[in-house]
Amino acid sequence: MTELRLTAPLSWLDGVDPRTGRITQPDHPQRGESIAGRILRLPGSVGSTVGAYTFFKLRRMGTAPSAIVLERPDSITVSAEMAGIPVKVLGAQTNPELDLEGVPDRVRRFLEREASASGAEEFARVRSVHISGISYWTIGEAGLDFLEGMAREASFRVPATLNPAGMDLSRWADMGVPEGFAERQLRIVEALVRMGAIPTLTCTPYLAGNLPRFGEHVCWGESSAVAFANSVLGARTNREGGVKAVAAAVAGVTPLYGLHLRENRSPDLEVEATARVSGRTRFSELGYLVGSLSPSAVPVYRGLGSPSADELKSLGAGGAASGGISIFHVPGVTPESPRPREGADRVTVVDDDLDDVEESLSTTGSEPDLVAIGCPHLSPLEILEVATLLEGRRAAVPFWLFTSRAARAQLPNWVEPALRRAGADLFVDTCMVVAPLREAGHRVVATDSAKAAKYLRTLGGLEVVLAPLDRLISEYTSPA
Ligand code: F3S
Repeated sequence: MTELRLTAPLSWLDGVDPRTGRITQPDHPQRGESIAGRILRLPGSVGSTVGAYTFFKLRRMGTAPSAIVLERPDSITVSAEMAGIPVKVLGAQTNPELDLEGVPDRVRRFLEREASASGAEEFARVRSVHISGISYWTIGEAGLDFLEGMAREASFRVPATLNPAGMDLSRWADMGVPEGFAERQLRIVEALVRMGAIPTLTCTPYLAGNLPRFGEHVCWGESSAVAFANSVLGARTNREGGVKAVAAAVAGVTPLYGLHLRENRSPDLEVEATARVSGRTRFSELGYLVGSLSPSAVPVYRGLGSPSADELKSLGAGGAASGGISIFHVPGVTPESPRPREGADRVTVVDDDLDDVEESLSTTGSEPDLVAIGCPHLSPLEILEVATLLEGRRAAVPFWLFTSRAARAQLPNWVEPALRRAGADLFVDTCMVVAPLREAGHRVVATDSAKAAKYLRTLGGLEVVLAPLDRLISEYTSPA
């Protein structure tokens, strides 16, 4: 059995082709190598928490590695154990036992294994769980099998909210989603609800009733929500794989390591922004840049003024998409001490750096056949902003906004009719990345989010235009 040693972290969701076992991640030093049947050594993972389901796909297709050796603890990669791929983490091993009645053996063994592999001495009770990997588009048959199997043997003991599904559960036909996909998508949501999940179907659970307090231990998947929970709310969570979050919801506990411990939360990277950073797109590009430069950093950002909660949401999403950044600090804005660790690195970001990110994520100059806004899901305030900017205009191409049912319910009465008059469509429960846009006939998508731009290309196989909202509106709408 040969060993394959990766010199850069892997994005499990979109960096490996389960059909061939080959690494497809753009710019990865080992791109093109096969992981099938090999002992895979890697420093960790980056990108989406949904990547945990890739292990089930690899097993199903016979392209899984025979074993994984991790150079540092990483909950997403440790999830491979649930799919029967042994994982070893280099460094200290502990042996904590989980003594909980009524928890299925495979869940208990997996959590003990994660604790041991990560050097955790004990488990923490969690107040809530947020589960990613809900879309049939991203988890496929393997994920559906896993969830239906779990629903036959387990139920949740803590409140658990859900990330977006692959379609608007009420209006999937309007999105062009095929019927076979819809049937499987509904089965996924049903399995999770049977276990006790609250079907929020949003990546902004903190706007839908799952709002942790400062210092509270939670167990969240969805990398953008993890960054928000740690950084803006001061709650404590690692960047959990979708599979792990299900296990934690069943057990009500998580191993105590990583960002659950105060000593791992202080900055080790100082980012001086001399660039003018304002608006969702610029914040997402700044996060994206820093995540690419230093995937596992804890950055402290200076020079940002006083960003809004929505801008911080975009900053976190960007850093967790290109890298694995799960906590950041903004002095005077985020609640924890921004004092950097001794020997922290420094980086300065100028306007040209962010222009370069925008250019590199835009893959085409062609006209889009869809404009898609809302990654992460739009807050009520952001929807009001879009509706106001669209007043007196008419979309020239389908113009879709994505949000949660919870946010939509808070909108003033005039907003949805105004959006419709402008030719814009507000969808809930889903987003442009986890919906099967290619199958629905789209080829070129314009968006204002660096995270969406990345995944629309790598996961969706689409051409992408990345630009701020005002530019998208001026270019792809006209006076009514
Ligand atoms: Fe949310 Fe979908 Fe973006 S889950 S963060 S809108 S990729």
